[in-house]
Amino acid sequence: MNCCVIGLQWGDEGKGKVVDILAEHSDIVVRYNGGANAGHTVVVGDSRFALHILPSGSVRPNTICVIANGVFIDPDVLIEGIETLAKKEITLDDRLLISENAHVVLDYHKKEDQLREESLGKNKLGTTIRGIGPCCADKVGRSYAVRMADLRDLEKLKTKLQTIADYKNKIFAALYNAEPISAGRLFKKCKTYADKLMPFTTDTTKFLHKSIADGKSILFEGAQGSLLDLDHGTFPFVTSSNSSSLGMPAGCGVPAKMVDKFLGVAKAYTTRVGAGPFPTEQDNEIGQYIRDKGGEYGTTTGRPRRCGWFDAVAVSYAITVGAIDCVALMHLDTLTGLKEIKLCKAYKIDGQEITFFPANAAKLSQACPIYETVPCWDEDITQVSDFHDLPASAQDFVCRVEEMTGKPVTIIGVGPERNQTIFR
Ligand code: GDP
Ligand code: IMO
Ligand code: MG
Repeated sequence: MNCCVIGLQWGDEGKGKVVDILAEHSDIVVRYNGGANAGHTVVVGDSRFALHILPSGSVRPNTICVIANGVFIDPDVLIEGIETLAKKEITLDDRLLISENAHVVLDYHKKEDQLREESLGKNKLGTTIRGIGPCCADKVGRSYAVRMADLRDLEKLKTKLQTIADYKNKIFAALYNAEPISAGRLFKKCKTYADKLMPFTTDTTKFLHKSIADGKSILFEGAQGSLLDLDHGTFPFVTSSNSSSLGMPAGCGVPAKMVDKFLGVAKAYTTRVGAGPFPTEQDNEIGQYIRDKGGEYGTTTGRPRRCGWFDAVAVSYAITVGAIDCVALMHLDTLTGLKEIKLCKAYKIDGQEITFFPANAAKLSQACPIYETVPCWDEDITQVSDFHDLPASAQDFVCRVEEMTGKPVTIIGVGPERNQTIFR
């Protein structure tokens, strides 16, 4: 059985936890999009792992981990991730494969991300400054891109880095009056990256197809969320990959028809980090309650996440675009204690009621949510393991999410730990 886990909102839905749980029954876990902008949390007892580039399956000692061609690899972050796990006696030595076709995020990408955001002032996108946009631009532009395979031929790379530095320095000076980057320093860092990462670097597409032929079970781990998809999200307030399920085939070379199930992950409410429209946002004491109770601060940047009600219009759109089969509904416990819960069932735009999500920032920013209000519960649900032991109003809420989205909720999160999970 091959399964793909996809965020259905604006990221941080709890994909890391879901992937970690499902990895128990998978041979291979594959990251195929995004880069160090992602932060996937896995909690195992007292240990809390924040994974940025490594698949969330890395925490399990026997799972094979693949970083496929679609990932933007920041080698500093990846090496740190490998070393952090090694300190906890989790070794990746014989079970990590990195695509030779994956693009490399270098220091000048992060610098460009930061300079661009600063120069935009109040119009900035609120990126994670992890260099994703500039690296993606170089990938699409081709001439100045560096891929993992380029780290194999250091002599050739040396010349290439000089060409890139000359080009980037003209831009940095002309547009931002910024300090130049040093090709020599870049090359020195690349030599270290080559030493540490070349042993893992290979043709991951070939490996995945062989694994499928051998009957291995593969778990594909999407980063970000469908509403941040470059083509189908709330452009321009999106990331630089196809983070809906549409990005999975291109991101790892495995056609979607080889995946048996697409599992969408959503929170029982909505969060967003960075700028962009968010119709159900609660910039008030309700949003603050959710932020405090749910620990809604960025795993990657530490930024407070914007919080609001569950948006069935947005989630249904992500389900439709991504052909999602079933839903994991996380953070049900975080809603406990609220006076009442709201679910957005439609928007009003220009006096018209609509139920199909307008994936366009200008249009979406005019959307006024139309809510349905349901009762909440006060009981602590963090130790509940059977759906029928949940308070009636919590069960009703989950059923209402199913009715509104048209998909079964098969996993429910009632806390960050592995065992704080209800399977249906
Ligand atoms: P991801 O990017 O989708 O993997 O999500 P993040 O790791 O960025 O953010 C999710 C946060 O919620 C992490 O701190 C998780 O440990 C935590 N979490 C996941 N599921 C649940 C849940 O059901 N309840 C609670 N309270 N926390 C959860
Ligand atoms: P995970 O995988 C939440 C957001 C940023 C910003 C926009 C563009 O942990 O769910 P970028 O740095 O990608 O150019 O920023 O996308 N963003 C995320 N938000 N979770 C993520 O990843 C995100 N990755 C990017 O906050 O709004
Ligand atoms: Mg995250």
